[in-house]
Order: sequence, then structure tokens, then C-alpha cells
Amino acid sequence: MSPDPGRGKPAFFKIDEVPTQDVSSPAFLAGCLGKLLSENPQTGQQTYFLELPPSWSAPSTICQSTLELLIVEGSIAVGNSRLGAGTFAAFPKGRYFPSISTSAGATAVAIWSPHFPEGEYYGDNPHILRIAEASWNFTEFPAETSTPGRRHAVKYKSLRWPDFIEGDTHGGRMGLLRLVSLVAGFVGDPRPESHPDCWEEIIWLAGDFFMPSTGRQAIGSYLGNPPGHIHGPLMTQRGCLLLVHTDGPASFCFHDPPVDAELVNSYMDGVSWLKEPVHIAHSSSSKAAPEGRS
Ligand SMILES: [Fe+2]
Repeated sequence: MSPDPGRGKPAFFKIDEVPTQDVSSPAFLAGCLGKLLSENPQTGQQTYFLELPPSWSAPSTICQSTLELLIVEGSIAVGNSRLGAGTFAAFPKGRYFPSISTSAGATAVAIWSPHFPEGEYYGDNPHILRIAEASWNFTEFPAETSTPGRRHAVKYKSLRWPDFIEGDTHGGRMGLLRLVSLVAGFVGDPRPESHPDCWEEIIWLAGDFFMPSTGRQAIGSYLGNPPGHIHGPLMTQRGCLLLVHTDGPASFCFHDPPVDAELVNSYMDGVSWLKEPVHIAHSSSSKAAPEGRS
């Protein structure tokens, strides 16, 4: 059964499982193929895993909606600029942007946001960011320091801006879009978390991750958390790179009981460092932690 793109229920799947379809809406992307990862019928916001076919092009136009693209393979041309993998491009609603095309094709995560107010983001101008050239910001993950003497790092690069942190609340009023890196050995608060005021989606771009209530994540894993959905705790053995998107400022609540330390150790000590991370969904018969030699 195909994953449900609605944002009302928790979601956890491999992007490969989502059927590819013609992208007929928004009209600007006509001729592209895409996997619809999530959508909000009230706001019209959609997240696609988008395939721009070879020789595809779209004429210059006025944006009817804010479009954000993270190119993960291939390249596109925006006006006279060539944007390759690892480039983020944003085109704010109501602004003119130049033609977009690709000669050999490209794959991108695309977020289409018709509800964004004009002038809210990107200084009201098209924004291009070669991610490798941006500096990492360091943040203290809420309650990470609950284990005295153990301090890891959560690094992030804001793709959508302006971006804010106020206390334990992250992101602007329409939500955040960040590339997040968790260092090897990161284990967050042992209690599961929830975000009461926003929906959250995460795409794994590299590395390994384990969330006992959900399963094991690997490159191409997709997670969707409705407001208030309890998930976690979070841990990674060798580190990971995530694309994190929310539709509102993300605050954190933590919930008792904490996860069993044995379960944490079974993942952190039990998974081979020699094998590629794998996507395994939690089921009632398996906690998705490795058994025996793995
Ligand atoms: Fe979360």
C-alpha cells in the first residue's frame, strides 16, 4: 500500500515506496515527475521528491507560491547560473524569477508553499545557497545535557530564512527548513519527545539513526510527525545528515517513561560499523534493534 501523504497521521516509509506520478500541480512544474511525500489540503503546502527530466524547462514567471528546491542529483540552470547537487534555491511568492531548465535532468526535494505571506522570507528575493559554502551553526539539543558529562553536538544550516531560536523553540512562524547534522554517538534525552505546535517531516540524506518508537532510519527514509505525536528518543551511532522541515515554530515536550537503557545500548553497541545503515520500520514483533551479531 502506498504511503499516505496526509499530514494528519504519523508517517514512516522509504521514499522509494512512494509511487511516481506526473506533477500537474503546481502548473509551473508541469512535465516533471514526482513522489508526493506530504501535503496539507488547508494551506496547499506540498513536499515532493521531484524528478526534472532531461531537457525540461519552465519559462520565467511571477511566483504564485514560494518554491524551495534542494537539488540532490544532477543540475539545473536558473537564468545563466548552473546549480548542482547540494545547492538550495528558493523563489519567494509574488516575485519574478528567471527561467529554470535542466539539460541532463535533476532530482530535488521541492516544497511548494502557497500560504506563505509575500515578503516573509528570503529578503523577498530569489535565494541561491551552495550548501558546502555555508557555515554550520551549533545548537544545544533540548535536554541533551541530561546525561552529565556527555556533550555532543547538533549542527545545522538554515535553508529557509529568517530562522530563529528562542529558548527551546526553533524556527520562524511558518516553520523551519534546515539541514541538520548529528555527530557520531549522539544520544538525545532518553524520554520521547513531541512538538505540540507544529507538524514535522524529516528526510535522511546520509548516515544512520534509531528511534525506538519508529524504527531504524537510513538514506532515503522519510518521517512525518503530526503535532503532539510522541516520537523518539533519538540516537545515531556513526552520525547522520537530515533535512528537517516544520510548518510552524518547533517547541519540545518530553514524556516519561524514559526508554530502557538496554534498548539504547543494543543499538549503539550492536550494529556493525561495517555495514550500510538500513531502513527498518518498527513493528509489534520487533523493536528494530539488532539481535545478536549484526
Ligand atoms: Fe521531532
